[in-house]
Amino acid sequence: MYTWEDRARAQSEKNQSLTLRPENTAGVVRAYIEHQLGETGQLHKLFYIGPQFRRERPQKGRYRQFFQIGAEVIGPPHSGSESPLRDAEILEMLASLLDSLGITGWTLRLNSVGSAADRPVYLARLRDALAPVVGQLCADCQRRAVTNPLRVLDCKVPGDQPLIETLPRIADSLDESSRAHFNAVCAALDAAAVPYTLDHRLVRGLDYYTRTTFEFTHGGLGAQNALLGGGRYDGLSESLGGPRAPGIGFAIGQDRLILTLEAQQKSLPTRADAFIAPIGDAQNPAALALARELRRALLPGADTVDNGLRIELGDGSFRVRKSMEIADKLARHIVLLGEDELQSGILTVKNFSTGQQTKISRDALAAHLLAGRARPNIKEG
Ligand code: HAM
Repeated sequence: MYTWEDRARAQSEKNQSLTLRPENTAGVVRAYIEHQLGETGQLHKLFYIGPQFRRERPQKGRYRQFFQIGAEVIGPPHSGSESPLRDAEILEMLASLLDSLGITGWTLRLNSVGSAADRPVYLARLRDALAPVVGQLCADCQRRAVTNPLRVLDCKVPGDQPLIETLPRIADSLDESSRAHFNAVCAALDAAAVPYTLDHRLVRGLDYYTRTTFEFTHGGLGAQNALLGGGRYDGLSESLGGPRAPGIGFAIGQDRLILTLEAQQKSLPTRADAFIAPIGDAQNPAALALARELRRALLPGADTVDNGLRIELGDGSFRVRKSMEIADKLARHIVLLGEDELQSGILTVKNFSTGQQTKISRDALAAHLLAGRARPNIKEG
């Protein structure tokens, strides 16, 4: 972590200890408590996007400042926050997100680290098993065996692996309710045909996890192969002085997401669906109205306008040739909007990839622009 003493501004003030945030889950739960969101009785779905800071040894995909896109689902137990269906719903959503970005070859690794009651039982068994063999493990594991024995399971040193495989498994220390919870998560994923791999060594680095833990990994990332990770934290709110508020969430490593897209030669959308070219300044207001209409068009398969058409707007002062040149760089189509088009409601549309120019009625324009898009918002590079 990055923690330092900040100089006091006035002599009467004490130095302040400042820390750059290494992650956001604890902060979100603190905000949940501070703003008394539990009193609404509802399930809250909260998200964040932003930089995080960790004092780790930098390497490909591991930086001291990196970016996360994360979300947390949290609420009182009667809001459904504790249900295994929340876990499965999040995992299904993440699998669909990676698929829709065109990322292939991901692996969902899944484990249950049990409840707060299961943990001491397992830790005692793990400590007992480690005691006679710890001297044969790497220096990091010898330290972890004392400070946080669960992290021994994270060890990647090849020479340690045969011994670590013989250590007790957390799955064998789960109580009845944790086992039932985990089985229900798996059953829902099976029903939705979301593929996953059980990984009994996935304990994750943060202490607040209970029950379900998961990571989506990708081979294209190298040693730092976790594209995203998360899990359940049913006791975190209470440990911060809040009400009972089971929760589950995830954080996607934005830097690693981009590395994966690059490795798969995919890129986030760069081209707009259409460039609207008003012909003559008099057409400018109508061009703005058309841009607004198309940007708001609710497309088939989309449930919010966020997934609507991406439109660039030209200017009536441009000659048609100039509009064509700009549009060819920015968009997949150009829509010409002259006085004739406005009066007749029949617009001239050129598709830059086929070179075809067509007349389309204004009502059919959104559907026409959408046709030929490989996937919503994604363009293959
Ligand atoms: P985390 O596994 O520590 O979980 O981080 C989530 C993701 O952030 C990782 O899978 C990775 O993609 C990315 N990441 C982590 N450290 C670095 C780094 N040094 N450089 C680049 N990328 C990195 C959490 O942070 C939890 N707060 C997730 C969560 C939300 N659990 C419950 N809710």
